[in-house]
Amino acid sequence: MFPNIHALDVSYDTSAFEVAADLDANGQLTPRCAQQVCEHIDRDGFAIVQNFLSNEECAAGMEVVQAALVDRDREHSAFASQTDIHYRRRDFCPLPTTKPVLRTFSLLARRAERVLTEYCSSLWAVLEMSTLTSYAGSSHQYLHRDPADVLCVFAALDDVSQEQGGTILAPETHPYIGFHREHGGKGDLFMRLFQLQCNMRIMRYNLRKVINLWKSRKPMISSEEFYDRVFSKRIDEHQPNLYYFLIKSPNPVFNIYKFGPRTLIRLVQFGKEAAAAYRLIQTCPKKGTIIIYRSDILHAGPDNRSNKPRYFLNINIARDFIHPEAWKNGYSPHSSLLSTPMTLGDLINYPAVSGDT
Ligand SMILES: [Fe+2]
Repeated sequence: MFPNIHALDVSYDTSAFEVAADLDANGQLTPRCAQQVCEHIDRDGFAIVQNFLSNEECAAGMEVVQAALVDRDREHSAFASQTDIHYRRRDFCPLPTTKPVLRTFSLLARRAERVLTEYCSSLWAVLEMSTLTSYAGSSHQYLHRDPADVLCVFAALDDVSQEQGGTILAPETHPYIGFHREHGGKGDLFMRLFQLQCNMRIMRYNLRKVINLWKSRKPMISSEEFYDRVFSKRIDEHQPNLYYFLIKSPNPVFNIYKFGPRTLIRLVQFGKEAAAAYRLIQTCPKKGTIIIYRSDILHAGPDNRSNKPRYFLNINIARDFIHPEAWKNGYSPHSSLLSTPMTLGDLINYPAVSGDT
């Protein structure tokens, strides 16, 4: 139905980044399994852990998602495409710290404790717990980095097909110590050129897609939505928008100002080498799989090219002490989490602390 951006250079083969969950008698990843996961996170910037949640646990997680999606008073994430959310192409909701929500995320945190505490002190903040639902007609995010020093976890509660669009990641683009020494000392330059090249394609793809939607009416797109997705002044860093490509937006991921004379010369000089230096993979996680990634790796949430919604649970955990203002400006904590902050340790120990068993 839609042009296929992934005919470019995106691989769906994620076998090199996968680890099968191996649980001990306490239902936690075994030390050996946790070590394998950490090795991927260190080297690749992320790991895909299969069979992490059982079917029953996925069903319980899905109940949390569905309860959130029908809640008229639900809060909406500030760090998603606001245009997509406005037109109900996406529904990204920070979750309140209710018992069902905490039970779901404490299970996840306890099971992955040996991995999470390798990166995050048990005293550091849980920044956000949310549901991420994407529907047909959503846009493709630009390739971007989230604020640094955070560990992010996505949990797939149902099988995610290629058309539904699992997360896209660029392995080894996390800024580990000395990453700039890669590729003959051009690691940093190549990464920036690679990101620009990818985002040029993504902008072109998104614009072609919205025009196709307009023509095919599958799904239906209103004139107002078409205008907003192409020309409007609605500030939206992840939306294909010609206005904000030409006008420097306050929080730009991609615009014409990225293409100064020096960058253009570099693209001519090193464009091919940069394109070959890094690659994109798209996850198609099976039900019960989690994806753990460093927030500063290059990644993108693709569009949903099917009529089946894509559901993810998401938790973001600080890898350092975080200033309260930076927290609010970089993530979307639910108001209940803001008023009663939780640490990773609180979440791991949740049932024992609350008496909610
Ligand atoms: Fe992101």
